[in-house]
Amino acid sequence: MPLVNSKEMFAKAYAGGYAIGAFNVNNMEIIQGIVEGAQMEKAPVILQVSAGARKYANHTYLMKLIEAAIQESGLDIVVHLDHGPDFATCKSCIDGGFTSVMIDGSHLPFEENIRLTKEVVEYAHARGVTVEGELGRLAGVEDDIKVSAADSSYTRPEEVEEFVTKTGVDSLAIAIGTSHGAFKFKGEPLLRFDILEEVEKRLPDFPIVLHGASSVIPEYVEMINQYGGKMDNARGVPEEMLRKAASMAVCKINIDSDLRLAFTGVVRKHFVEHPDHFDPRQYLGEARTALRDMVRHKIVHVLGCNNKG
Ligand code: G3H
Ligand code: 13P
Ligand code: ZN
Repeated sequence: MPLVNSKEMFAKAYAGGYAIGAFNVNNMEIIQGIVEGAQMEKAPVILQVSAGARKYANHTYLMKLIEAAIQESGLDIVVHLDHGPDFATCKSCIDGGFTSVMIDGSHLPFEENIRLTKEVVEYAHARGVTVEGELGRLAGVEDDIKVSAADSSYTRPEEVEEFVTKTGVDSLAIAIGTSHGAFKFKGEPLLRFDILEEVEKRLPDFPIVLHGASSVIPEYVEMINQYGGKMDNARGVPEEMLRKAASMAVCKINIDSDLRLAFTGVVRKHFVEHPDHFDPRQYLGEARTALRDMVRHKIVHVLGCNNKG
């Protein structure tokens, strides 16, 4: 199986009422844990790389690890740039073998977002690469940028047709109340499904993307707190809300914080229980297994994309 772009994957997900998991990758153990979980569930998967991940791990190292994952697993895998900040970063990822990119112009005025997104789409489509755009602004932390709740804004459904038509994007990320990171809601979780429904009506058969969609799994938050960490008031998107979104127009669900929490929880526990261990394979191996099992759970119980690979 070669690397694929997201076109066919999303068409099948839309028609089948399920979503594909887009997991953020930063190192070998994270890639292996995700891909092994997807392989066990015969699920298509998107491995996404942020600008920060490229800076941390190096583009070529990540690409070679992903190539190895495809060779070993035989799965359909999309390698996607997460939150592309500008044209140059998107171009560098496309030239370097990514099959999908996000250009995140959500902080720009509407017309500027259209202009930048269109420029990326023209470059990407000429090379068989799919493009995700964004309208509306999520709260939370991405790379070093922190968007406060006051600066966040829901997607305006009345803008989506013009944006999609003028830019030619293949998928659209929208803001309906999710946010990046582990502290998503102060009170009861609330997602604006009315906005999603309105977008769905205006863009029939068009794949929608949900960012900030980790559930902040309580088991791992508790593990972190129990073994010396401090993650009070961490709260994510309830699984039943994600399942509902996946049954609607949402074809891609982004998950990073849950990977971080599982990884960190398991490593913290390992060191407390084995203060004499100093072989990284012992604690990184345990973290990798936890990621694999968490990804399997997401695929089967949240995304519904098992046996769709
Ligand atoms: O949306 C952001 C993702 O969680 C990636 O985070 O930019 O710190 O790699 P990062
Ligand atoms: P979480 O912080 O909810 O995992 O969201 C990740 C994300 O949207 C990456 O683009
Ligand atoms: Zn995001």
